[in-house]
Amino acid sequence: MSDLSTDLIHHSYVPPSGFAAPQPGVFKASTVFFPNVAAMREFEWKDKTAYTYGLHGTPTTYTLEERLCTLEGGAQCLLVPSGLAAIATVALALLQSGDEVLIPDNAYGPSKALAEGELARWGIRHQFYDALQPQDLAAKIGPKTRLVWLEAAGSVTLEFPDLPAQVHICKAAGVLCALDNTWGAGLAFKPFDLQPGASPSLAVDISVHALTKYPSGGGDVLMGSVITVDAGLHMKLKLCHMRLGLGVGANDAEAVLRALPSLLLRYAAHDDVTRQLAQWSAKQPEFVQVLHPALPSSPGHVHWRALCKNGSGGAAGLFSVLFRADFSQARVDSFCDSLKLFRLGYSWGGPISLVMPYELATMRKVWPTHLQKGTLVRFSIGLEAGGDLQADLEQALHRLR
Ligand SMILES: Cc1ncc(COP(=O)(O)O)c(C=O)c1O
Repeated sequence: MSDLSTDLIHHSYVPPSGFAAPQPGVFKASTVFFPNVAAMREFEWKDKTAYTYGLHGTPTTYTLEERLCTLEGGAQCLLVPSGLAAIATVALALLQSGDEVLIPDNAYGPSKALAEGELARWGIRHQFYDALQPQDLAAKIGPKTRLVWLEAAGSVTLEFPDLPAQVHICKAAGVLCALDNTWGAGLAFKPFDLQPGASPSLAVDISVHALTKYPSGGGDVLMGSVITVDAGLHMKLKLCHMRLGLGVGANDAEAVLRALPSLLLRYAAHDDVTRQLAQWSAKQPEFVQVLHPALPSSPGHVHWRALCKNGSGGAAGLFSVLFRADFSQARVDSFCDSLKLFRLGYSWGGPISLVMPYELATMRKVWPTHLQKGTLVRFSIGLEAGGDLQADLEQALHRLR
């Protein structure tokens, strides 16, 4: 008998044998025990043949990584603490002083801010290209370009680019391309098989995904993934990921594991109601333009149809409206404030519908010619009944009138 405190720590424990249940076990660890010094020296974390430290992986994180590879059609996966951390990890792993990165002009704002802030400070240049003009991307790729970001659809204005053409351009120039695949979520289209049957297959090099949105689905988890199909590229990213000390908590990994089985159903439900509301919005006189890739009038609609299996791939749960220019920002803000079911907040992919006004003039250097002049509001559709959400929009528009 030792002291009770020691006994409580070294309590005998026999793992359940012959136990099978729907959800995998949750393994929490910083420290991982080695059986002896020889094994400690021999164990290799890089190829996942052994566990060495919580930051390098646990059975819980390895399970999540495998399932995310299945979701997106990739071969290797890294987990990071947020979608933005996934974007930053790619930049830090692949770029150095003197290099250049190209970013679509409609990209997720903080991705642009990273380039304008830290990357610029470290001597890494950037240019924004027109997401709807592949020839603009081609013209901007230069001898220093090392990485091209792609995003489908654009995060606030939802233009859908000709993704296969963009990837062709990057491949022809020998430049790596990384896709922010949060909107597609591995469901709308397959980032590593953009032209099924093509030989060699047309694939992005890296797919990053804010798991914060659809894969977690609850509006209560922050996480991101970096998925690849090339082992050498993955190792480069993985070593940087390790040196930066990035990891995710077991409970968050568990939350995503628990939500993944319902991902397809939830994505389809978000998509269905969003299309109904976008179509209804297109008939409202207050809006000069409604942005949703499935609307024929929305910029890039033909590319969405071509890539997303004629619409059956899906179109996620976001749409934006441009209020007529005669509505002041203050009136549009009061419209947002008067919504009852839609809550004011960032992000998307959770059960509660969200609304957010954006000042587009501050987000783009010039007002895009494909967008009408007006004040932009983005809606993220949750899992509420479509009729209730429409009634909420109606009452807020009624007040505005
Ligand atoms: C398109 C896109 N990518 C990445 C992110 C970043 O995800 P996170 O909030 O997990 O950092 C977001 C978040 O809104 C997003 O909309």
